[in-house]
Amino acid sequence: MIITKLTCEYQENLFGTDCLSPRFAWKLEDGISQTAYRIQVSKDQDFVDLIWDTDKVCSDSSIQNVYAGPKFQSRTKYFARVMSWDQDDKSTKWSKTSVIETAFLDENEWSAKWISTSDARDKLVEHVVPALRKDFKVNGDIVSARVYATAHGLYRLSINGKRVGDEYLTPYWTEYDSRLQYQTYEVLDLLQTGTNTIGAMLGDGWSVGEMAFDKHRAIYQDRVALLMQMHIRFEDGSEQVLCSDASWKWANSPILMSEIYHGETYDAQKELPGWDSPDFDETSWQAVVEGAKYKGKLIAQEGAPVKKIETIKPIKLLETPKGEKVIDFGQNMVGFVRFSLATAAGTKVQIKHAEVLDKEGNFYTDNLRNARQTITYTSNGNGEIVFEPTFTFQGFRFIQLIDWPGEINLENFEGVVIHSVMPQTGTFECSEPLINQLQHNILWGQKGNFVDVPTDCPQRDERLGWTGDAQVFAATACYNLDVSKFFTKWLHDVAISQFADGEIPHVVPDCIKDGSGGSTGWADAVVVIPWTVYKSYGDTRILVEMYDSMKKWIEYMRKNGDDWRNKFHFGDWVALDAKEGSYIGATDRRMIAYAFQIYSTDIMMKTAKVLGRMDDFADYLILKNRLIDEFRDEYVTPNGKLAVPTQTGHILSIFLDLMEVKYRERTAADLEKLIREKETHLDTGFLGTPYINFALTKAKKLDVAYELLLKKDYPSWLYQIENGATTIWEHWDGIKPDGTFWSVGMNSFNHYAYGSIGDWMYKTIAGINCAETSSAYKQSVIAPRPGGGLTYAKASIETMYGLLSSEWNQSADEFVLKVNIPVNTTSILCINLNEKKIFLDGNEINHKDTKYYYTAGEDWYIEVGPGTHELKLVDEKR
Ligand code: BGC
Repeated sequence: MIITKLTCEYQENLFGTDCLSPRFAWKLEDGISQTAYRIQVSKDQDFVDLIWDTDKVCSDSSIQNVYAGPKFQSRTKYFARVMSWDQDDKSTKWSKTSVIETAFLDENEWSAKWISTSDARDKLVEHVVPALRKDFKVNGDIVSARVYATAHGLYRLSINGKRVGDEYLTPYWTEYDSRLQYQTYEVLDLLQTGTNTIGAMLGDGWSVGEMAFDKHRAIYQDRVALLMQMHIRFEDGSEQVLCSDASWKWANSPILMSEIYHGETYDAQKELPGWDSPDFDETSWQAVVEGAKYKGKLIAQEGAPVKKIETIKPIKLLETPKGEKVIDFGQNMVGFVRFSLATAAGTKVQIKHAEVLDKEGNFYTDNLRNARQTITYTSNGNGEIVFEPTFTFQGFRFIQLIDWPGEINLENFEGVVIHSVMPQTGTFECSEPLINQLQHNILWGQKGNFVDVPTDCPQRDERLGWTGDAQVFAATACYNLDVSKFFTKWLHDVAISQFADGEIPHVVPDCIKDGSGGSTGWADAVVVIPWTVYKSYGDTRILVEMYDSMKKWIEYMRKNGDDWRNKFHFGDWVALDAKEGSYIGATDRRMIAYAFQIYSTDIMMKTAKVLGRMDDFADYLILKNRLIDEFRDEYVTPNGKLAVPTQTGHILSIFLDLMEVKYRERTAADLEKLIREKETHLDTGFLGTPYINFALTKAKKLDVAYELLLKKDYPSWLYQIENGATTIWEHWDGIKPDGTFWSVGMNSFNHYAYGSIGDWMYKTIAGINCAETSSAYKQSVIAPRPGGGLTYAKASIETMYGLLSSEWNQSADEFVLKVNIPVNTTSILCINLNEKKIFLDGNEINHKDTKYYYTAGEDWYIEVGPGTHELKLVDEKR
């Protein structure tokens, strides 16, 4: 057996952390199972100065093993390695070393001061980005140098003219009134002996800029400010510390405006050549002012950083009927356009961004509402430049060149995609190309909306952490990309933002700040997402950390009962059965509130069990059953008819097992009827769509589920694709069959909520599931349900243990399933036998063999261990 990867807190190296009890995980190959492990943590690379050695621990645990050595020291590097023993008690070699470096473990170690510009900034206007600078001397042989930095607003640092780090939108977005992340940078290579210069630019960002529709500004802070502390270590052991303080200077930079929603205005004629390098004449610069101490908590970077992930070449230059010059990037993407240009001084370039063209083929921006999404650049005539904006991002597929000097050459443009770093974990493919495009669109919806915070959309003046959207999409998100760190950080903000009574605000971070929250299906994010993260990554810590918040929400609902159920809820948001002119679907919102209360109480019950809180477990079990009884009294007629005559009502009742067993067939038939009445179309919104195909599968109506998925006419998932979608739309009728748009007020073409069908595609088409009593796929269940005329499907996920994959091929008389099961895990293959001969890895299996057993009629369960397996079902007659 070999160890192929060691991680600490989900990362190969954990840099700039303040986590005192990081968790180790490793992947094993060429073996069956682990019987023991040994972890060592040392202060030196050679593991001589050991601070923690577990010795041989008899355990099969190869993920989430918590560091339990002596308390880490601040700003210190540690080295970790691990060794495992296999099923025959044979040990592996030591793993590759993983490095942990701590940042500040005590806030008092910050001696830097908050510094800002000296002008009292008007809260209501967009600002010129200030540039701040400081010269400093370094003498001696440097062995290491670190910068710790954060800001109100956004910051970008440079040293001696070179950019520090490669992240975007630092220090990212948290509940700023309570906590603010700082980042750690290794800057040794940027320093030189003698005079050095550090520079900083400060953008308005989420904290100071315009946010949350309605043109609010300065929601958290009324001016941008910087906090920076540099520690330089010399060979002789001495240390030099440089801090942001009143001795820094500032001036206006050439960035005249840079805003999350609006884009950037840059005047190269106002550039300050050499401003962030030594020997610059700063006499005309003003002194900064020291600001007040930050009242919240400064924490080391906890989320996944946002970086440039890929670039996209434009595919076409268009001239629209209105005569607009438009470039098509072929993909609705999030980031910015990088362009190159050489032109005369004073020449202006202006670029607008849009997601779609209208019916006539003209550039369309009405759906962006107040977001200007515009880049304006003025040249200084100094030869060829390559321009990228600094503190903004756009959601777009098309750009309009309002001003562009001379001929337009596509080679001068490139789309730069930015999002949180989340390695791809999932793949899905099948024999229907349109479904593969759907998977592509779901993935791109996730990329574009996982920019530090899970947002509803990335283009209009919104881009907020809507809890309901994240709640319904979380399971799909966990398949596609490694979102462990991403969600951990956001969930901590969810807990912080919770109101005293237990309600969760509609958006987190709660920049709306009007006290509104507690909407069913939205607030449940506090329960559903920690559980989803736990199931995906075996992360019991997130359950422990979130437990009180989860409970508070459950108790709020219990305590307030109908007072809460009758309050405002978004309901089955944007469902097609909504009344004319309304966003709220027809399904009774009080019924939906019951359903989600039961859903969350069920998860709470399971969470209590995982954490060994058996009193709570019993309490929530009773609560859940009581709620189901109430639900039945209220919504089920004496003869077992569900008295909520909508698709979503039926979907939730089936998905959550709300109906008595004897009435389930009837409910299933009624759901099918409701779907057939719409000529086999859904009319569901945010709270019905995610579960429609799960409900149909459960109701033994798999064929209807496939029919819905494969529908190409309006409304359906593939209708969007037939209409050129490259991401998921907010509305089924974002573009109507007659080519007109849904109302301008709210029409995003990059909204991931309906992408939640991805969860069903992985779980049901490809059949990749985590067993009910397991987490992180320590025991997986591979239960593919072929249908819809698909001839093959294959999916995989890179789990904490390694690659788990399922691939099936269906021909006229043969069904072949190939799986790969990671080392140190087991899997149950679950298939529908139906009079077939069955071969496992080439050997025919005797149906009577007690190792394999039937349940529920036709389903067969076969337990297999690590490695690849092939299961073949052949017609009995052959
Ligand atoms: C957002 C949604 C969100 C909703 C609340 C909209 O403006 O874009 O996705 O969940 O408001 O109902």
